[in-house]
Amino acid sequence: MDKLIVHGGPTLRGTINISGSKNASLPILAASLLTADDCIIRRVPDVSDTNYMIQILSALGADVERSSGTVRITSADIMDEAPYELVRRMRASICVMGPLLARNGRCVVSLPGGCVIGDRPVDLHLRGLEALGAKIEFEGGNITLTAKDGLRGAEIDLRGTHGPTVLGTDNVMMAATLAEGITVIESAAAEPEVLDLANFLNAMGAKITGAGTRRIVIEGVKELHGVEHTVIPDRIEAGTFMAAAAIAGENVTLRRVCRDHLKAITAAIEASGHQVDFNEDGDICTVRRSEGKTHGVNLVTAPFPGYPTDMQAQMTALLATTPGISVIKDTIFPQRFMHCAELKRMGADIRVDNGTAVVHGVARLSAAPVMASDLRASAALVLAALTAKGSTEISRLYHIDRGYEQIDEKLLMLGANVERVKDH
Ligand code: EPU
Repeated sequence: MDKLIVHGGPTLRGTINISGSKNASLPILAASLLTADDCIIRRVPDVSDTNYMIQILSALGADVERSSGTVRITSADIMDEAPYELVRRMRASICVMGPLLARNGRCVVSLPGGCVIGDRPVDLHLRGLEALGAKIEFEGGNITLTAKDGLRGAEIDLRGTHGPTVLGTDNVMMAATLAEGITVIESAAAEPEVLDLANFLNAMGAKITGAGTRRIVIEGVKELHGVEHTVIPDRIEAGTFMAAAAIAGENVTLRRVCRDHLKAITAAIEASGHQVDFNEDGDICTVRRSEGKTHGVNLVTAPFPGYPTDMQAQMTALLATTPGISVIKDTIFPQRFMHCAELKRMGADIRVDNGTAVVHGVARLSAAPVMASDLRASAALVLAALTAKGSTEISRLYHIDRGYEQIDEKLLMLGANVERVKDH
């Protein structure tokens, strides 16, 4: 198991490229199961979550080749049972459910287990697929869905108590592409990753309109064909480096970003007093840390275009050393505050109560051995460590490797002093 040692102090400056989006790649890789033709997907980040998804596709019978960011998948004959040993490692493997059901009329997927960021049910996914005509059975920790006579279009409202569901919208949208008739998803997730999946499916011959809004209409087609697609930039990786620049940078430039996906993150970083500038095309962004004029902010996470829950932990790390009081509420995953206990071990002044963190900014954090608990929490600890006094050891680094491509190399390119070592 690797750990990361971050020697706090150096000022970050320079330019890096942002990778393709992990959360767009995962459902897009799964969507390749909808056709027997070749699918070529570019800018798939080389992170462990995309590797798990590729292993699942291979285990299902797909022929997969990967070379430097490009993945070619041919799913000629596909089985309908996703192997538990692989599925249990990643919650997002649930998004093979929609494509398998649509392609084979049957699928067996193990029920995802608990997750450190909170209770993550799949009731909305199942509600949607049931409305399309699937019969659902639970046995031995598995969900079996069958639709012997095929799926039929339906009107479905996918709103849950915490708002829309991203992967639930993806699953229903993928299944509906091959259903007979028209499907309308109300209260759909409008995240850019859902739109990227819809663009991928439309390029395969699907008939989807309204993706990127709360109402998606899918007219079922008989079959889909092969496609070439380039995945959108990872807005959360971009946001994480924007926060790193605000914490410890002077002049940090990020290439291959998308300004329209970063509005809420940009607004939050500007509200705390730092400067963010985009080029005219909106695909390059420069963040300049401000000394002296910074202040606390109030943040509430919300579905897109609101402030993303996946950037809550990283912003908490920035606000931990920003003078004044900040209040951060996570409405999507109210239990997603594991990073706060670790930040407190580094001297942060944070009180968490009922899905809300109240942060009193301190002048400087100090190094301590800390433990990563999940992907974004580990990113927050790395950011905090960049300016902390001393050397911070972050263990359980595999969490960060799930979703950040070469984070240590990118930090080194910006001038940070980090080293990856084996933890015995
Ligand atoms: N929910 C339900 N029932 C369901 C599904 C979700 O109640 O059937 C609830 C969840 O418990 C949560 C809310 O609805 O409170 C939203 O969850 P959502 O389904 O949107 O989450 P997801 O699709 O499983 C994706 C991302 C997450 C990100 C969330 C929210 C991927 C692979 N994962 O998960 O990303 O936090 O949307 O934006 O796209 C991450 O990258 O670190 C990560 C956790």
